[in-house]
Amino acid sequence: MMITDIPINKPEPFLHKQPLVQFNQSTNINRTIKALEAGKPLIITELYNNGLLLLNELHKHLKRKLPNTSFQEQREYRSVYRNLSNLIYIEIIDHKLTVKKSPCIGWLNKFYPETSNFLLSFPQVQGLNSSWQWYKNGISIPVLRNKIHPYYGTYFPTRFDHLILFDNWLKRYEGLKKSAIDVGIGSGVLSFQMVKYGFQKVFGTDTNPNAIVGLTAFMEDTKLSRKIELDFGNLFCKWEKQTELIVFNPPWLPISRNLDRNDEAFYYNENLFPEFFEEAKKRLLPQGKLVILFSNLAQITKETENHPIEKELLEGGRFQLEKCFKKTVKIASKKTKRDQNWRSFEEVELWVLINK
Ligand SMILES: C[S@@+](CC[C@H](N)C(=O)[O-])C[C@H]1O[C@@H](n2cnc3c(N)ncnc32)[C@H](O)[C@@H]1O
Repeated sequence: MMITDIPINKPEPFLHKQPLVQFNQSTNINRTIKALEAGKPLIITELYNNGLLLLNELHKHLKRKLPNTSFQEQREYRSVYRNLSNLIYIEIIDHKLTVKKSPCIGWLNKFYPETSNFLLSFPQVQGLNSSWQWYKNGISIPVLRNKIHPYYGTYFPTRFDHLILFDNWLKRYEGLKKSAIDVGIGSGVLSFQMVKYGFQKVFGTDTNPNAIVGLTAFMEDTKLSRKIELDFGNLFCKWEKQTELIVFNPPWLPISRNLDRNDEAFYYNENLFPEFFEEAKKRLLPQGKLVILFSNLAQITKETENHPIEKELLEGGRFQLEKCFKKTVKIASKKTKRDQNWRSFEEVELWVLINK
């Protein structure tokens, strides 16, 4: 299959046969919320802002009705809000939202070229809109000269301490630079750093189709497409050849069974690390290096005592530690510090492992 043919994750168009109940600024809010609670979908008309207004009222209503303090209660609140808000629809005709004063969302054109008249839920449209803004305007990353343009539904870094650790390590790296593998390439940041430091070829993979399709489109006509090759799938995919550097910035938190955590950018299952180390061993040249970016996040938030890299070093018998660099995470704002005390202890880690 060609990379451009891989189906991506995108909101499914809602095709409703009967006309939906309409909501605008003169509709009764209480009755509307009751209808939502009875599971009845509705459509926003006239102004985009009417959708925002209704979501705001829904929040106010749920805050009065549901407790929202304990962790469990917050989860319940979010789940009720998600279900109700996703019954609020908005119409798209010819790749544009039909209500006035709507944002222009380029994804509509790209994702639904053949569907000219359909509905999406308001939260889906909000997600598409903010992603389009990130994509179109790009994001500056301190260690890269050019902005990155993250594709819809793809992980991108919002804090940069781990990237700075990697940059400092690359600066001093004296090994061969013929090739490297970037497992879970995301929006490509680590690969771009390796290319910046002179790696001739980087092979990237990801289980998220949007990451692979997005990067392919982004690199299309640039020199990068000759330096970075992509494959869609688990861990190393088709890259079998041994290489001098393998890089992985994995998810940092374990999936815990009773939570609905299914985002593979953030949460790892129990097989990920054992499988990764087994496969990495086969692909690392005898003098090669395995670099893993990690953090103490799971430990300081008491998610787990288990540190998958330490575990591998103790029990795996495959690699030995060359060095582990650590960096305290810069706290984004005073507010964050007050709300999340553990954040002041957060450190990112760069592990360099070599063959035993
Ligand atoms: C924390 S993000 C890092 C992305 C990028 N390397 C960076 O540093 O910005 C982890 C990435 O790994 C991908 N991923 C998770 N499990 C994977 C697996 N088993 N094989 C390949 N990629 C995986 C996710 O989809 C996500 O893009």
